Amino acid sequence: MKHLLSLEKLPRADFEKILRDAAGFKRERGHHKTQPLAGQTWALMFSKSSTRTRVSFEVGIHELGGRPMFLNANDIQLGRGEPIKDTARVLGRMIHGAVIRTFAQADVEEFAAFSNIPTINALTDDEHPCQIIADIFTFQEKRGPIAGKTVAFIGDGACNVANSWIWTAAKFGFELRIAAPKKFQPSAALLKRAGGKISVSTDIQATAKGADLLYTDVWISMGKEAEAKERIKILTGYQINQSLVKLAKPGALVMHCLPAYRGKEIDDATLEAHADTIFEEAENRLHVQKAILNWAVS
Ligand code: CP
Ligand code: NVA
Repeated sequence: MKHLLSLEKLPRADFEKILRDAAGFKRERGHHKTQPLAGQTWALMFSKSSTRTRVSFEVGIHELGGRPMFLNANDIQLGRGEPIKDTARVLGRMIHGAVIRTFAQADVEEFAAFSNIPTINALTDDEHPCQIIADIFTFQEKRGPIAGKTVAFIGDGACNVANSWIWTAAKFGFELRIAAPKKFQPSAALLKRAGGKISVSTDIQATAKGADLLYTDVWISMGKEAEAKERIKILTGYQINQSLVKLAKPGALVMHCLPAYRGKEIDDATLEAHADTIFEEAENRLHVQKAILNWAVS
């Protein structure tokens, strides 16, 4: 039984297979030879908002021959307190796979443990594995192997997206630099467990200098809305803008997982100047997630 719950646990060979297959799914869109989800129903159980992840999984499951079933977690009994492990055991007897977006990482892990069906993490407070696989796919599509390159993450260095980047640095042999205020930096324990070449700093200019990729995510992740005022105050300045881009390597890529808040983590001019990359990154969620689904059932 294969689950994609965390990038920490995804073996490098499986990661590479997903990246390779994603290129094929992208090339062959509209005329796939295989329908690996034929006859299957996959649930998308979401407790948080989503545009890209929801749509790309619904379309991807459909194009692979399966039927997606969107379940707003608040509309099912889970939202009224039915335990995850009971929900998992019921769904596991009826459907073939689950894609879950929720708060606690422990909840997707519990679902996977009890459901006996492939389970994919579509974002938790701790990780966003599908996003970072698509990000690495996008980088490599445009710039070749990410090994030996430098990725600069600017902003909330303790969020799910940053965490998933952290789990990939050692696996792929690139340098990851994180610029974040002290309060939003990854813990020393996490960095130690991850290994690889990762540095954390409050100096955004030094972080961006010579980087091959400048990357950012929202300052206020879903579930952190109560901290909005404090976060904006502390994170102001941790922005990708034209002057920061000038410090990066000439021709450096700028990427954003989206949704973007212009004037906060990125300015409008920079987002628009790099829109081709950023929206291709969003499109690649579809191709990469088809490869993840195919991996999960093979
Ligand atoms: N990047 C991303 O996961 O977007 P959504 O929240 O719209 O799914
Ligand atoms: N860190 C963000 C990512 C959104 C795709 C959040 O969790 O809201």
